[in-house]
Amino acid sequence: MKFDPNATDFKRDPYTTYSDLRAQTPFLYEPESKLWFISRYEDISALLRDRRLGRSIEHIKSRSELGLPPKDPRYAPFDRLSENSMFDKEPPDHTRLRGLVHKAFTPRRIENLRTHIQVIADSLLDQIVTRSESDLLEDFAVPLPVIVIAELLGIPEADRHRLRPWSHDIVALYELNHTPIQAERAIQAAQEFADYLRYLARIRVQSPRDDLISALAAVEEAGEVLTEDELVSTCVLLLNAGHEATVNVFGNGMLALLQNPDQMSLLRNNLEALVPTAVEEMMRYDTPLQLFRRWVLEDIDYKGVCFRQGEQLALLFGSANRDQARFDQPDVLDITRTENPHITFSQGIHFCLGAPLARMELQIALATLLRRIPSMRLEYMPQYRDSYVIRGLHDLVVQLDA
Ligand code: HEM
Repeated sequence: MKFDPNATDFKRDPYTTYSDLRAQTPFLYEPESKLWFISRYEDISALLRDRRLGRSIEHIKSRSELGLPPKDPRYAPFDRLSENSMFDKEPPDHTRLRGLVHKAFTPRRIENLRTHIQVIADSLLDQIVTRSESDLLEDFAVPLPVIVIAELLGIPEADRHRLRPWSHDIVALYELNHTPIQAERAIQAAQEFADYLRYLARIRVQSPRDDLISALAAVEEAGEVLTEDELVSTCVLLLNAGHEATVNVFGNGMLALLQNPDQMSLLRNNLEALVPTAVEEMMRYDTPLQLFRRWVLEDIDYKGVCFRQGEQLALLFGSANRDQARFDQPDVLDITRTENPHITFSQGIHFCLGAPLARMELQIALATLLRRIPSMRLEYMPQYRDSYVIRGLHDLVVQLDA
């Protein structure tokens, strides 16, 4: 079967193609990107837990041993962030880093934010409810998680406007085909973002405050601490991961609700009871992070297919979440779905560390928005951005009915 993950039509609606992939070629090797595309839930779930696969491979074999060209030195600022981040590490480094970060980024610290997130959501909505029209992304979904994660980390208010452009530029490198201009921007953003956080971390080390940067700088377990590079990389990871996907779950999910008025009115009429399952369904139905890669660390014979050491798998999360073998009526938006083991936060050792925070933010955002705005309509059909891995809308402009 022919499959082009860069085709515009596919990026607009990947779900029809995913369905064909699952039925015809659940393991598809695409020579141009040199990737194995895996589309069924059962396989993605099993492979995410398989320790013969990993997010990095260079702890096992050098690039030259793998027949890969040496790293391009222009990417050094980006590579330095990756090399010190738990996101791109495997055990034992991953276990050590994740354990240290978890000690500072505790469930209690997250739960303590609940009342504050409600205040932020209400104050953003105070500005919206007086108007007849709003871009719900720009006015609400983007600022909310940015303010939350910036406050959590302790980024001064005057600097917060720099976070979103930096992180936006950096995550463009996770796309399958980024342009040279995008690469240049990402490298520059990685350098500036890291320099800024290094400067802030040094200030917090000298005069700690009650914020996550100070807590990460102080964290210690069994004599282990975070190095300055690891501290900087962790903050960048939390700032990037902490809002890009949250914004897109909200935007994609609100669009789905606006296109399914029966589900919207069911939710409005049972707001408190249905918000938790509605948020899970928003995460499943139009997945914000469509694909994650894994390196093959040793040869694997999986269901008769041989994945060779040094190859990469592209696990199609968006496809797994629409697999009819796992979900009842997967193409239907059902906000009452209780059996919903979506894969949106991943599985295995890299399972999203911020899932409790993301869930809390999204539940508060959705409930507050629908409580404060009793009726709204799409002003026009919004367009998806041109990216594929990160799936999200350009804008979401609605008319607010009086
Ligand atoms: C709805 C919003 C979010 C989604 C869909 C999401 C999704 C994910 C996914 C899929 C992974 C694992 C990738 C892999 O297996 O290769 C991940 C990892 C991670 N996420 Fe999230 N995330 C969200 C929000 C957040 C938030 C709010 C934070 C923190 C403030 C966060 C922090 C992290 C971290 C630190 C990791 C790395 C974990 C590791 O490598 O062990 N995420 N996220």
